[in-house]
Amino acid sequence: MKNGKPVLGIIGCGGIARGSHAPSLKQLEAQGVCEVVACADVVPEAAQAMAERFGIPRDFADYRELLALDELDGVTIATPPFVHKEATIAALRAGKHVLCEKPMAMNVAEAKEMIAVARETGKVLTIGHGGRFSPVAQAIHRRAAAGDLGEIYYAKAAALRKRGVPARGVFTVKKLNGGGPLIDIGVHALDLAVWLMGNPPPVGVFGATYDKLAHRPGVASQNRLGSTGAFDPERYDVEDLCAGLIRFANGATLYLETSWLLNQADDERRWTELYGTTGSATTNPFRILIDDSTGLKDETPAVPTGRAGFQGNFLRFQRFVDCIAGRAEPLVKPEESLNVQRIIDGLYQSAEAGKAVEITG
Ligand SMILES: NC(=O)c1ccc[n+]([C@@H]2O[C@H](COP(=O)([O-])OP(=O)(O)OC[C@H]3O[C@@H](n4cnc5c(N)ncnc54)[C@H](O)[C@@H]3O)[C@@H](O)[C@H]2O)c1
Repeated sequence: MKNGKPVLGIIGCGGIARGSHAPSLKQLEAQGVCEVVACADVVPEAAQAMAERFGIPRDFADYRELLALDELDGVTIATPPFVHKEATIAALRAGKHVLCEKPMAMNVAEAKEMIAVARETGKVLTIGHGGRFSPVAQAIHRRAAAGDLGEIYYAKAAALRKRGVPARGVFTVKKLNGGGPLIDIGVHALDLAVWLMGNPPPVGVFGATYDKLAHRPGVASQNRLGSTGAFDPERYDVEDLCAGLIRFANGATLYLETSWLLNQADDERRWTELYGTTGSATTNPFRILIDDSTGLKDETPAVPTGRAGFQGNFLRFQRFVDCIAGRAEPLVKPEESLNVQRIIDGLYQSAEAGKAVEITG
């Protein structure tokens, strides 16, 4: 640490690094709480361009050279999923703390290896789920954790887009991304729901996946996601939609649905809903209802909602810096992300087998 400030690097200089990692870390640097000294990308021009744009002093084509910098305390990893395990373990072994993008890994075995090395090295390992930091999620978590909703026995989570396939990088290539919308947006919905439910261990899932729209004539060219347009159907071998029912050790059930190509009216719909014995909480619309034995009373607090209330993409980096400086514990613990990974692996296994599967190990 330089004068008590964590010194940081960024591995992977693509969309989310440019849109979230670099600007957030530079904002924290401007506040005087960290320094950003290096970035790396296998595409050297990507690393150079990000270094230039954000005033990052050093750039590398090989992240192992970045990890060799003694002054570095931590790295954020913004590579595609197939690199998460390898880069995380290399960083931890080089003595660096790690914030790794979602999904944690390609599968449960990889996630377990990452956790084992984090424990062995004693370094921070956290996963980039900004959604937990939103004021709405925080407000629901406070009430659920205090037991105000009673026993939470049913939950719903959804992340559904009409025509919203990320057309860049490897998002549509199963062996490099691990899957489709379940890996990209469903994982956020899943993480949020399971965290709000109190992280019960999953014991079984019934999942179904579909690939019905990506290869239909004309669909790829209708695709809209931010400024990106058509995706390449020739390079698309992931699901369009995943639906699943997840059962937990405490008897609770979660219904998940996620898609980035769905014939629905809205461009995007997301929600997380918890139903307990003494109340309920929903994110969209944001409501907290508590049964006071005469009826359900609306106890929704006044907090910023929607995109206005969402600073998760900044707060997750602030928390990471605080963890390295010893001022905080990670909000997203890797063991929680391992549980989410167990559900993801189970959903794909179940979809392939066409029947429910148990989640063991
Ligand atoms: N938290 C969020 O809300 C959020 C949003 C978008 C993406 N993501 C996640 O962030 C990760 C990156 O997504 P993206 O949208 O930036 O993808 P992207 O394709 O735009 O960028 C990925 C970058 O990683 C680089 N890369 C690939 N292999 C590398 C290696 N071995 N070493 C260094 N760099 C390497 C690529 O060249 C590319 O520049 C993914 O895991 C994705 O799921 C998270």
